[in-house]
Amino acid sequence: MAAQHVLVRGQVLHFLSDPGPEADPAAWQYFDDGGLWIVDGRIEGAGPWDAIVPALPPGVREAAAFHDHRGRLVLPGFVDTHLHYAQAGIIGAYGRQLLDWLNDYTFPAEARLADLSEAERAAAFVVERLLAHGTTSASVFGTVHAHSADAFFAVAEAHRLRLLCGKVLMDRNCPDNLRDTAESGIRDSLDLINRWHGRGRLRYSLTPRFAPTSTPEQLRLAGELFASVPDLHLQTHLAENRAEMAWVADLFPDRRSYLDVYTHFGLAGPRAIHAHCIHLSNDQRRAMAASGTSAAFCPSSNLFLGSGFFDHAASLDAGLRVGLATDIGAGTGFSLLATLRDAYHVSQACGTPLGSLRGFYLATLGGARALYLDDFIGSFAPGREADLVVLDWAATPELAWRMERTTTLAERLFALMILGDQRCVVATHVLGEVAWRRG
Ligand code: GUN
Ligand code: ZN
Repeated sequence: MAAQHVLVRGQVLHFLSDPGPEADPAAWQYFDDGGLWIVDGRIEGAGPWDAIVPALPPGVREAAAFHDHRGRLVLPGFVDTHLHYAQAGIIGAYGRQLLDWLNDYTFPAEARLADLSEAERAAAFVVERLLAHGTTSASVFGTVHAHSADAFFAVAEAHRLRLLCGKVLMDRNCPDNLRDTAESGIRDSLDLINRWHGRGRLRYSLTPRFAPTSTPEQLRLAGELFASVPDLHLQTHLAENRAEMAWVADLFPDRRSYLDVYTHFGLAGPRAIHAHCIHLSNDQRRAMAASGTSAAFCPSSNLFLGSGFFDHAASLDAGLRVGLATDIGAGTGFSLLATLRDAYHVSQACGTPLGSLRGFYLATLGGARALYLDDFIGSFAPGREADLVVLDWAATPELAWRMERTTTLAERLFALMILGDQRCVVATHVLGEVAWRRG
């Protein structure tokens, strides 16, 4: 079959590395009249439009599908490094803190997915909403039910998305109707790995919910499984809330810290991502970084549940891989632009305000690196999968008014991260093709 060519023209921005607090210009590329040449869903070239077009082989310009996004910002698709698809129906369930919120809202919501058709409806809804918000990759919690992961992977595969998902492992301190056992949880995970891990763009992520809801035996078996399957991912929660910290200390008296529980059972290392990571010392941040474990920064969730402030600058200084995350449904929406605004507010509370270039890095390549998927996604480097989001700088009157008064790219991006949300998303492309379009 002949190769499929796609050409995209617009204001192309992508990152090569973390711009750091000083916004190092070597860390990104921006082409004000830019182009992407995509062949069979992968980036063949990115650069100024006037350089891309003359380099095309004869006939390609005429044969290619052409997307004219001039005047709009074209970024690699957003990467949401932590969310719970079963919790989309409890976004904005009133307050209190983590442990009450889990009991009052989260567990009842997850129990509804015992019904396969409910899981299928939730999976279809969430994948559509991800695309509508410009998010093309994510690390996603299912529920304890194995079919919750089947349902999610099936929808992800139909949309050809690069997504991670796993069934929750949870064999204690939870309602009976959400409990597996150490053995059944591992058996179900293994079945799911055999069905989905490495199929197309999908990968399995082993999903022990958090230390309090797993017995030491379940954590031990999960660690063994994590070590035994190539390219397996792992997702859990760490150091989110003070009461949770005290509970973990009670449940695991032999361990030095919450982090030490995961390290001890082999639930850390490359391709493991721990959400929240708020109540950690710098030594613990460095230990996580040294092991290759990543952190998911969930600012809207942390503000919503009053969990505390993730110290993004200290985490990056410690060498941690950090990705941005909505943490739906404690997070308050799917938009990573709105989540960047919350990240900025949290970074202000920590005394180290997040700049716009580092913010957009965090939502794209930073997330891909945190998930160890940066060989595939997160930038427009040659060979990367061509998932992208097209943003309208002036989607609201306030944005339009503000943009007229900006002079630099950094200023424009900062205004977008403070005033922007899903209304800015004009189109989302998956493997070069339009997967969602505004209006
Ligand atoms: N810790 C354990 N489970 C959860 C969850 O579902 N959401 C959040 N925010 N924290 C958790
Ligand atoms: Zn979570």
